[in-house]
Amino acid sequence: MRKGILLAGGNNSRLYPSTRAVAKSLFPIYDKPLLYYSLAALMFAGNRDILIITTPQGQAAHQSLLGNGERFGIHLSYLIQEKPRGIADAFLIGRDFIAGAPCQLMLCDNIFYGKPFARLLQDAAAIESGAVVFAKQVHDPQRFGIVEFDSNGKALSLEEKPQQPKSSYAVTGCYFYDEHVCDYAATLTPSARGELEITDINRMYLENNALNVQQMGDDIHWFDTGNPDSMLAASNAIYNTQQQEGILIACLEEIAWQQGWISDNELKQQATELAKTPYGEYLLWLTK
Ligand code: DAU
Repeated sequence: MRKGILLAGGNNSRLYPSTRAVAKSLFPIYDKPLLYYSLAALMFAGNRDILIITTPQGQAAHQSLLGNGERFGIHLSYLIQEKPRGIADAFLIGRDFIAGAPCQLMLCDNIFYGKPFARLLQDAAAIESGAVVFAKQVHDPQRFGIVEFDSNGKALSLEEKPQQPKSSYAVTGCYFYDEHVCDYAATLTPSARGELEITDINRMYLENNALNVQQMGDDIHWFDTGNPDSMLAASNAIYNTQQQEGILIACLEEIAWQQGWISDNELKQQATELAKTPYGEYLLWLTK
């Protein structure tokens, strides 16, 4: 069975002083914590066994927010990353948890929404070998892992935060890997900036002709909430979309209920517990 990993460690120093005492993943993006959005992406893809990796200081707060996941019909476990050694460190920390299964990794600061998103994830999860990543056009490619395509849309090269980007297509923080990912991670050495780079793992799949890079269209919205401006922009966008469409984006109880992981009664009970909030009112409305 596929495993899910939510990476919520790092020192988040780009958001100091706000992140000195509280992990960025717990900050609200409009009406819910940032990590709800990446957890939603793991749940949409069908993951019920999910590992949350935090800093040593962050673990207790994440556990207090999400518990063992029962409310969302999933099983959550927790491990600590002692130092921010890089995103690919997730596969060294999570090796025993993954136990040779395929897995999906989500960065906790990535937000995706849009009607075709759940379907895109389910299709990616159905691919049995190799890796699947998603690319989206950006205005500031120096901030991201960048993928270059040939004229047929086939990925040619990958570079992490290039000074002279070969394209404007960023690789997003949502990754699907087959059972080889932990072995690849074990061979990595730190980059010039001292991190185990996820882009180096993706390059190994590319070199083995096993990397599927899918371009996300305009109907899927993506935010990497790496700085205060993008956090504010994401909050505003979520607010506007929810107001216009009358829905909640990344409502975990709703996803669990739609997946058949919690019953009508369980949804009702959770709606009642949150009834004094717009989030709870939405859950109550779903149960009618
Ligand atoms: O958002 C997409 C981008 O994410 C990709 O295009 C890049 O290839 C990828 O390297 C990554 O770039 P960022 O600069 O956004 O990564 P950042 O260092 O901000 O880490 C992303 C999240 O991962 C962050 O919320 C905290 C977590 N993290 C990061 C590191 C380096 C950890 O939990 N542990 C770590 O050691």
